Amino acid sequence: MLIRVLGCSAGGGFPQWNCNCRNCSSVRSGKSNFKTLTQSSLAVSGDGKDWVLLNASPDLRQQINVAPALAPNNGSARSSPIKAAVLTNGDVDHIGGLINLREVQPFTIYATRRVLDVIESNCVFDILAANVVPRTPLELGRPLQLTGAGVDLGLTAEAFDVPGKIALYLEDPSAGMRFGTQVGDTIGLKISDPATGEAFFYIPGCAEVDEVLAQRLKGASLVFFDGTLYTDDEMICQGLLDKTGSRMGHISISGSLGSISALRNLGVERKIYVHINNSNPVLDESSQERKAVEAAGWEIGYDGMEVRL
Ligand code: MLT
Ligand code: MN
Ligand code: ZN
Repeated sequence: MLIRVLGCSAGGGFPQWNCNCRNCSSVRSGKSNFKTLTQSSLAVSGDGKDWVLLNASPDLRQQINVAPALAPNNGSARSSPIKAAVLTNGDVDHIGGLINLREVQPFTIYATRRVLDVIESNCVFDILAANVVPRTPLELGRPLQLTGAGVDLGLTAEAFDVPGKIALYLEDPSAGMRFGTQVGDTIGLKISDPATGEAFFYIPGCAEVDEVLAQRLKGASLVFFDGTLYTDDEMICQGLLDKTGSRMGHISISGSLGSISALRNLGVERKIYVHINNSNPVLDESSQERKAVEAAGWEIGYDGMEVRL
């Protein structure tokens, strides 16, 4: 399996268009210890020829243009090696890029019924006509063989529920502490290649590592995980937004309940943070926080990062 990190930033990207935080102003002014990031998405291929997107970010057009493997790859007037897109939630940073895939090009969209309902209830997405771009529901806990445009992609995707939240724009303030969140609103994915037996996990949004998730990740060879914030209140402390990470459905990297701590003793071979918010101090390559994360055995993902399994 070949995995490419198309975009490693959380929603908004790095720098974010309206943000003047220390990180955003530093990367904008070209400081050498900062690198720009596009928004949250991976691509995976079993054979290096046909590809599956894991989330479709609003930066997808740019992400395709810098990835030679994603360019039209056969002699016909119109073609694409992108045969499917699997979505982990309905957040704008994960579905907005579907719009970039219009132009009557066949591929399959995979998502839970909850997320497919979001797409199907918004007529903008009808630009991807369902007879050209079929939607296939993912059932939790049931691995599905991925296909698209008549091609068997040689990979399976297993969706599983993770602690999280309904998309921001769907929050129902009258629905109590969970804002109307239901099972299937935020999932993690286990992508497997039955031919080689290799598998990895992709969990870009997760509010908490509970016992069920910890057991699932035990002994995994590779996990891409939610690296949104370093500390729960960093956006408040930096004067950016009046919300904690937990209110946004994101676990922090640091702290006794954070992801470093939660995954420390699970025997995961390789751990890579993705979906990193522009406020996160780990984006400064010379920061103490960056050193602490790396010393704890984690990698900070970056746009264009490639991993072979
Ligand atoms: C998130 O990851 O919390 C969302 O992408 C936030 C948003 O929609 O801006
Ligand atoms: Mn996001
Ligand atoms: Zn910023």
